[in-house]
Amino acid sequence: MDEDAGSMTRIFKAGAGAVVTKSIGLKPREGYPNPTIIELECGILNAMGLPNPGIDNFKDEIAELKKSKIPVIGSIFGSKSDEFSKLAKNMEEYGADAIELNMSCPHAKGYGLEIGSDPKLVKEITSTVKKTVKIPVFVKISPNLINISEIAKAAEKGKADSIVAINTIKAMKIDLELKTPVLANKVGGYSGDAIKPIGVRCVYEIADNVNIPIIGVGGIHTGKDAIEYFMAGATAVQIGSALYYRGAKVFKKICNEIENWMKYHNVKNISEIIGAAHK
Ligand SMILES: Cc1cc2nc3c(=O)[nH]c(=O)nc-3n(C[C@H](O)[C@H](O)[C@H](O)COP(=O)(O)O)c2cc1C
Repeated sequence: MDEDAGSMTRIFKAGAGAVVTKSIGLKPREGYPNPTIIELECGILNAMGLPNPGIDNFKDEIAELKKSKIPVIGSIFGSKSDEFSKLAKNMEEYGADAIELNMSCPHAKGYGLEIGSDPKLVKEITSTVKKTVKIPVFVKISPNLINISEIAKAAEKGKADSIVAINTIKAMKIDLELKTPVLANKVGGYSGDAIKPIGVRCVYEIADNVNIPIIGVGGIHTGKDAIEYFMAGATAVQIGSALYYRGAKVFKKICNEIENWMKYHNVKNISEIIGAAHK
């Protein structure tokens, strides 16, 4: 997940099947003041505040990626359906191969989770975007919900092509000496190793409730982590924090580990294990 064509190209060349852009909005946005990101014992806590250059300034980044034929999933955020559909239309015109609707950012007021926790809005926004673009539309949902299956079903009713689960988990770190939250925004989103069991549970629950593909994300840094998501019902996975910890070499490492696991267990095709835990 990045916004700069150079680093996304490096990620692709290192073995990723596609790149997801950082979430882009209508206007340039600075994001929150520092500190915006801190490393904790078992993961990363961030409240970036959706910093991005704005959709008009993002055209060249996508063009650069498409020059190298890199599959691009354009992530967008907005506060209502006409904003999402304008952003999606632009992303499609610029050359994105799919759209990811970020309805799950836990720390941006008026965006993300505030929208993604309302099934009516999720359905309405998804179906408006689907009517606007021809490319596939993914809906990224939050683990910070009691009705995660209801939200996934709303996205499916809106004709989403896929569900992406999960975004970060609302969390906080307090500095004991200063007696104050460490992040400037106080609350942020937690990612990395610690959230994998939560992501796996979310994917498992969603898989029981929808018939569209699920892309699993959250705490994946080994081949076995990815396989766990496949068994929960994901048909593909995304890698976020592991890139921060382990660098771009993590993609080849994960692919090799998946292949080795499959060979050892005599699995010929990954489809044999997708959803295997639902028996
Ligand atoms: C620094 C940082 C920035 C992120 N920015 C976005 C974003 O712009 N849009 C989005 O949908 N998710 C964003 N995420 C969430 C990740 O895409 C992913 O859903 C989450 O981190 C869980 O996966 P991971 O444990 O592999 O990192 C961000 C995560 C981190 C750590």
